[in-house]
Amino acid sequence: MHLFTTIAELRSFLAQQPQSIGFVPTMGALHEGHLQLIRKARAENERVVCSIFVNPIQFNNADDLARYPRTLEQDSALLEAAGCDVIFAPSAEEMYPSAPVMTFDFGPLERVLEGAFRPGHFNGVGIVVSKLFHLVQPTRAYFGQKDLQQCLIVRRLINDLSFPIELIIAPTVREADGLAMSSRNRNLTDEERALAPFIQAELQKAKAALEAGLTVPQVKAELLNAFAGQSAFSLEYFEIADTENLLPLEEYEAGQAAALCLAAHLGKVRLIDNVLLNV
Ligand code: PAF
Repeated sequence: MHLFTTIAELRSFLAQQPQSIGFVPTMGALHEGHLQLIRKARAENERVVCSIFVNPIQFNNADDLARYPRTLEQDSALLEAAGCDVIFAPSAEEMYPSAPVMTFDFGPLERVLEGAFRPGHFNGVGIVVSKLFHLVQPTRAYFGQKDLQQCLIVRRLINDLSFPIELIIAPTVREADGLAMSSRNRNLTDEERALAPFIQAELQKAKAALEAGLTVPQVKAELLNAFAGQSAFSLEYFEIADTENLLPLEEYEAGQAAALCLAAHLGKVRLIDNVLLNV
């Protein structure tokens, strides 16, 4: 396995590799969810590249950026064992020798859910993912469904900019108690970790209620009420959304596709999760 920290090294190595490339962009602090993406990329491509870069321009909260776990040594060992060929771990100066001035606007898709609560986040994601796509020129790029809105943003990016890349979205990987795996989970205290599966449990209840015929406002009210009774959590949003554009659904018809998306703070950690219906 190779570890490159400069664009020049990465480019010169990949120029000699005419094979298909599976690419897994990450911010490090890898968990089983990332490793499943790597293994899938390994099975479907001749070369596997993983980037590890905590992208400062997608954080709209300085504390969140400072607290983001950085574990390159451990990540390298996990990647090697999972069959990764190349790690690209640039510094912020390498990626952004000067602050980028161009901006992405993904339209209504970026004004809901994460986009509404993290202004500028998807511009930062759009910039870094486009840069990485240009540098790595992958055949396939692998993303996890936990970041559903990011997956749809990247799909838009690939379509609008005609990147010749197949987007692969893999299901969310969960702990045995249902908690969606996330690099941020390691910032939870033991007490918070024990409470965290509440998020997935409430999403499953909401899904069942919708399937049982409750209306969208009723399902939302039940979930909001459940969170109001859990003082450890501060619910940021819960939406029942269209799976194509993530715009909120006012009504739900049996059999219709829908995405139930939620973000909540638990102590100092912000967690997101989602559940899909009829997809
Ligand atoms: O999902 C992430 O880890 C990041 O948003 C990504 C795609 C690596 C871009 O920085």
